[in-house]
Amino acid sequence: MTMDTNKEEKYIVTGGTPLKGEVLIGGAKNAVLKLMAAAVLAKGETLIHNVPDLTDVEIMLKVIKELGTKTKYDKFNKTVSIDATDITNVTAKYELVSKMRASFIILGALVSRCNEAIVALPGGCAIGERRVDFHIKGLEALGVNIKIENGYVHAKAPKLVGTDIYLDIPSVGATENIMLAAILAEGETKIQNAAREPEIIDLANFLNSMGADISGAGTSDIVINGVKQEDLHPIEYTTIPDRIEAGTFMTAIVATRGKAIIRNIFPAHLTFFNNKLLKMGASIKLIEPTAIEVSSKGRLNTVNFVTQPYPGFPTDLQSMAMVLLSTANGVGIITESLYENRFMQVPDMRRMGADIHQDRNHAIIKGVKKLTGAAVSASDLRAGASLVVAALMAEGTSEINNLYHIDRGYENFDKKIQALGGNIERIKIESTQESTGDLNEIRI
Ligand code: EPU
Repeated sequence: MTMDTNKEEKYIVTGGTPLKGEVLIGGAKNAVLKLMAAAVLAKGETLIHNVPDLTDVEIMLKVIKELGTKTKYDKFNKTVSIDATDITNVTAKYELVSKMRASFIILGALVSRCNEAIVALPGGCAIGERRVDFHIKGLEALGVNIKIENGYVHAKAPKLVGTDIYLDIPSVGATENIMLAAILAEGETKIQNAAREPEIIDLANFLNSMGADISGAGTSDIVINGVKQEDLHPIEYTTIPDRIEAGTFMTAIVATRGKAIIRNIFPAHLTFFNNKLLKMGASIKLIEPTAIEVSSKGRLNTVNFVTQPYPGFPTDLQSMAMVLLSTANGVGIITESLYENRFMQVPDMRRMGADIHQDRNHAIIKGVKKLTGAAVSASDLRAGASLVVAALMAEGTSEINNLYHIDRGYENFDKKIQALGGNIERIKIESTQESTGDLNEIRI
């Protein structure tokens, strides 16, 4: 924390306007960050399209650039170019990895491409401990020699040999790191109890178009047959749509009792979430293979749910559903099963009038008639976005502080909401109060 004059930004939101019109969803943050790391595997220039303009993308570009690659981001066309002909450095520094945990994925890519990597350990973040032990054990099983010294993972792999790896839990990051490390290993690698998220399939599709041999992505058993470095070539690839951004806008439309079309969405990626919204009384119509119309009227019903790895209820949309339950007709129970501390929005939701009882990883939400606007602060990316949605639903005006969390995962959030008729403004403030806006505190 700093105690000086600084410039910050905040949202001012006046609630009560039903969202109407159309919104276009961007590329998936949690896919694109991994594709960028995977681009390092092939010599030559890889182009990735549909890349959202986010702080996290900027950080990943820096990580990759520091390896000696040439990187460009054409923000107008949303295309990132990564020329990985030369890798001259195998270190990912703490200064960057600590700002964004997802950059730890560079470990698997560097081990494949250079047989060596020195990557800072990310540490925990606001929402949980977030260990990387499965990543490390998986790489060791492939023959990588790993030492942890001075906060860095020092990995050396003169020879990588395929093997069977069983994950205790279907970790997204561990599945991806192991996939990347196994691409050039000798023989076959099988990842059992692998994560099944759409972002894993996107990474496998990307790597296969590059010349890798991966099958089973999207199921619990992923098989990687090792290929040779000369089999890999640079590619041009378009990222899948962001299912969490789509779910956030679905929530905002339902919360405001609006009616709007969401484009560039893969509805099958949100099956569990859609079902819960339908049970709550929302209407979701498929109008094109990649477009839906969402609407709702009247008071919502309550539901209960447990967050689970895909295809279960996504933890990244838990806080959004909590906003809907906060004014639903009855009591809803949420169990958060992935993270130890992902109810960070609760104290601010209470300040807006919500009636929530929290006991460790359970939240009991008793629907109230309405929320009222208040000054609140984003504590992390998804909790922050859910407070914006709560403010759009609330009576009166709210301010949402610490926008740097939201900027990590939502491109032009305010502009997209404004285009739907929502009353939101992003304003600069001069403050002399304590600031928590230190970028070094950002970790997800
Ligand atoms: N875990 C371990 N050891 C490991 C790896 C994971 O104990 O080696 C635990 C974690 O501590 C966590 C759980 O397993 O409690 C799940 O972690 P996972 O590895 O599946 O998550 P991740 O790869 O770190 C990605 C997304 C998250 C999303 C989760 C779950 C990215 C960059 N991040 O994280 O997204 O919540 O999967 O779906 O892909 C977000 O976008 O807001 C976000 C947090």
